[in-house]
Amino acid sequence: MVYDLIALTIAAFEASPESNAFTSKFDLSFKGKARLSQEERRGFALFKGQGKCARCHAVTAGGEKSLFTDFTFDNLGLPINPENPVYDVNPGFVDLGLGGFLKTRPDYAALAPENDGKHKVPTLRNVDKRPSAVFVKAYGHNGYFKSLKGIVHFYNTRDVKPVCPGDYTEAEALAANCWPAPEVAANVNTAELGNLGLTAADEDAIVAFLKTLSDGYDPGGQ
Ligand code: HEC
Repeated sequence: MVYDLIALTIAAFEASPESNAFTSKFDLSFKGKARLSQEERRGFALFKGQGKCARCHAVTAGGEKSLFTDFTFDNLGLPINPENPVYDVNPGFVDLGLGGFLKTRPDYAALAPENDGKHKVPTLRNVDKRPSAVFVKAYGHNGYFKSLKGIVHFYNTRDVKPVCPGDYTEAEALAANCWPAPEVAANVNTAELGNLGLTAADEDAIVAFLKTLSDGYDPGGQ
């Protein structure tokens, strides 16, 4: 009974404008209350086209009310994050993602190997939202990426650059022009990312687009 009430409370919160604000610059652009810049629009086009992002971070036909996830699981081949203490506390730890969970369930354990390394496609709404401009966010299941530019560059060049000779951080990998080996080598998606052929300006446009997804946009005098 009490659990039912808790579930109803959470459902009411999840359905409320508090967690479904849809007040980003992107959302307001559909209501004529904001206008995306040319670079932001180009970024959205690349997101749906050459960047292949929308294959997982799904968008609706017209774009409006997109949730930017298709709720599936994938292994993008993210490296271990040497700055994440979980790897120091548990030497040799590997995050098997969905496979690691399925392994613990006798009824699903047989499906574990084909799901090792897969993580749920997150929404990209509010992906750049932060409490203050200097607040550093961390992206990916283990926080490997500290910047949107870094993760977009990884999508673009994962399979083009040489493998770093060790567990490099994002900053070290960018400086050395390499990417470390994946945390989980099994089931890495090579069909939809790794070598997208985007220019640096294309990457910047995608990042500019991602920054339009933060709720609470003030359209000012537009
Ligand atoms: C094959 C499916 C797939 C494609 C294609 C894809 N993504 Fe993702 N994306 C994911 C998954 C799965 C994760 C979580 C991965 C992890 O944590 O290991 C993710 C994570 C992210 C994150 C981190 C979000 C967070 O809150 O930590 C960003 C940003 C992102 N993707 C942007 C993009 C962009 C931009 C593109 C296109 C260049 C793209 N994605 C293409 C599946 C995909």
